[in-house]
Amino acid sequence: MKLSLPSATITAMALYGSTSAAFSIGRQNLGRKVVSNAAKVFGATAYLAQAPMQVSAARNGPIRAFTKSSLTALNMAEKEAPFKTWTFDKACDTMEMSEVSEATISITDDLKSIDDSDLVIIGVYGPKKDEDEKEEDSKGEEEMPEPVLVGKAKELDDLLEGALTDLMEENYKQFKHGAAAGTATPVLRIYSGDKTKRIMLLGLGNEGKDMEEGFVSKIGSALANQCDSNKKVKTCSILVPAAFPMENTHFSELSTEFYSTLYSDNRYRTGDKVKKLAEDLESVTIVAEGGVADVSSATAAIATGKALASGTSLTKDIVNAPHNVLNSESLANVARRIAEESGGTITCKILGKKECEERGMGAYLGVARGSETEPQFIHLTYKPKSGEIKKKVGIIGKGLLFDTGGYNIKTAMMELMKFDCGGSAAVLGAARAVGEVAPEGVEAHFIVAACENMINDRAVVPSDVLTASNGKTIEIVNTDAEGRLTLADALVYADKEVGCESIIELSTLTGACMISLGKEVCGVWTDDDDLASDLEDVSKVTGDKSWRMPLVKSYNDQLKSKIADISNCGTRYGGAITAALFLQNFVDSKKPFAHIDIAGPVWDDAKGATGFGAKMVTEWVSRQGK
Ligand code: BES
Ligand code: MN
Ligand code: ZN
Repeated sequence: MKLSLPSATITAMALYGSTSAAFSIGRQNLGRKVVSNAAKVFGATAYLAQAPMQVSAARNGPIRAFTKSSLTALNMAEKEAPFKTWTFDKACDTMEMSEVSEATISITDDLKSIDDSDLVIIGVYGPKKDEDEKEEDSKGEEEMPEPVLVGKAKELDDLLEGALTDLMEENYKQFKHGAAAGTATPVLRIYSGDKTKRIMLLGLGNEGKDMEEGFVSKIGSALANQCDSNKKVKTCSILVPAAFPMENTHFSELSTEFYSTLYSDNRYRTGDKVKKLAEDLESVTIVAEGGVADVSSATAAIATGKALASGTSLTKDIVNAPHNVLNSESLANVARRIAEESGGTITCKILGKKECEERGMGAYLGVARGSETEPQFIHLTYKPKSGEIKKKVGIIGKGLLFDTGGYNIKTAMMELMKFDCGGSAAVLGAARAVGEVAPEGVEAHFIVAACENMINDRAVVPSDVLTASNGKTIEIVNTDAEGRLTLADALVYADKEVGCESIIELSTLTGACMISLGKEVCGVWTDDDDLASDLEDVSKVTGDKSWRMPLVKSYNDQLKSKIADISNCGTRYGGAITAALFLQNFVDSKKPFAHIDIAGPVWDDAKGATGFGAKMVTEWVSRQGK
């Protein structure tokens, strides 16, 4: 790396020396190091900083809820950015969407491009493990192995008189010489030219076969976090050694995770509460020491990764949006916007209550009866611009914009029930991503029977009997088992009216699924072994974790009703299984169909919406036309 200095080097360095104290305010200035020979070699002064500078970030304009009268009291500039919310007489009809970071990711084999970056991240592999070395808990006195720096990293270390080796040795406990993928060392600052540069090391994990699962995601997310925590960075480059696996799937995974990590929901925050991540960042360059076989296909993979992040961002936005912003009507408008922005590959059809009535969607309309906004049955169709369609698939999402439980009102966790549209969020997020990725050979139908489970004088009561669009009658034993009722009519529509050949459905359907599989894993129910194995593969590739669950047919006894064909819920035991069995009543039993319960992974108590399912659905759809 050439770090050239102008002729005023000495003065500048002296000045720098005198201002370094100011630079250090607000951080522990531990391990300050001046590499004198490095200054001679390429005129640079370096020191270590334990933490990045704290810079108060410039903020975007305020986002506030305004009423018409309060607007007149505000200046014109602020008038530009009100978010649309409800008025006393009318529910909100628009949900704002978060922007995906505009920073670009590019790839090159030109090592010189690290010269132009504000932040240089050097990817380091951990020392190769011995074949027969056992995984031990390093409780005892573990000896620190020699750090391994190769290629350009070694060259830089030599130029910096071993400062990089020092960084690795000083931080061995956490950094493990790079063996812990995604961990970073503190930042080494170098003064070069008329500005400072930052250099740090990032762990790539263990080289070779024993690379841990999801290591690329960890790297992508660490990269984003470093671009954020190192304030004011505009340009960043990451140097990857020749041994790094340069597969396109890796580039796309890295890109997805990078952009997804930069997601921050500022739509309902103002002033200092706004947290824009890596807001100054303009570009990230992956500098591949081993060369890039095909830059254009790697670039396409990076774009695919960004499309997945864009879908995931929409999924998070939908789940995070509160019910007074996002109701069935604003969700329908989100769907319309997806179609408008697809460049013609996606069309949007919305059935209103009349069209649903004509189709006899009594189960769905029964649930929708209790809320302020009218039901909106959303149907997005993706068709590739050209080529033969090999398969027509349906993806259905539960779209309860809020679930109070209805007259069987919830006594626990009601405040979380804005996430009950998580299935529809995954489906619409995937629709956006599919529109961008544009897979060939597949026609995909994204379907959501959107509504709310509320209480008013028209809402269903326990003991009501509803008739679904396939003619089956359902006794409402519990109004809180509402998702399956809306899904029943959506499934009949996808199966019979659209004629989908294969159907998957995602829903935050039962607390029972969350109890059995926890917060990270969704449950998959299907009688079709091929579909089960496809979904398992897709789940592994995307990191949206899943587990196949049993369809215990004898539990159908729990769904018997004295008055109707079936009842809408069983006992407490096996509640996630009886929910899946209930849904099977609404799809042709010979058709491949999978129910996916995402009640657990849809929400993270610390971070909010996770975006779960968008990647899984996009990947599944993309594989159908192959
Ligand atoms: N949306 C809920 C499921 C849910 C509950 C997800 C808690 C995540 C956390 C669903 O509509 C529901 O209320 N299901 C009931 C079904 C029961 C009444 C048969 C449940 O799981 O308790
Ligand atoms: Mn419910
Ligand atoms: Zn629900």
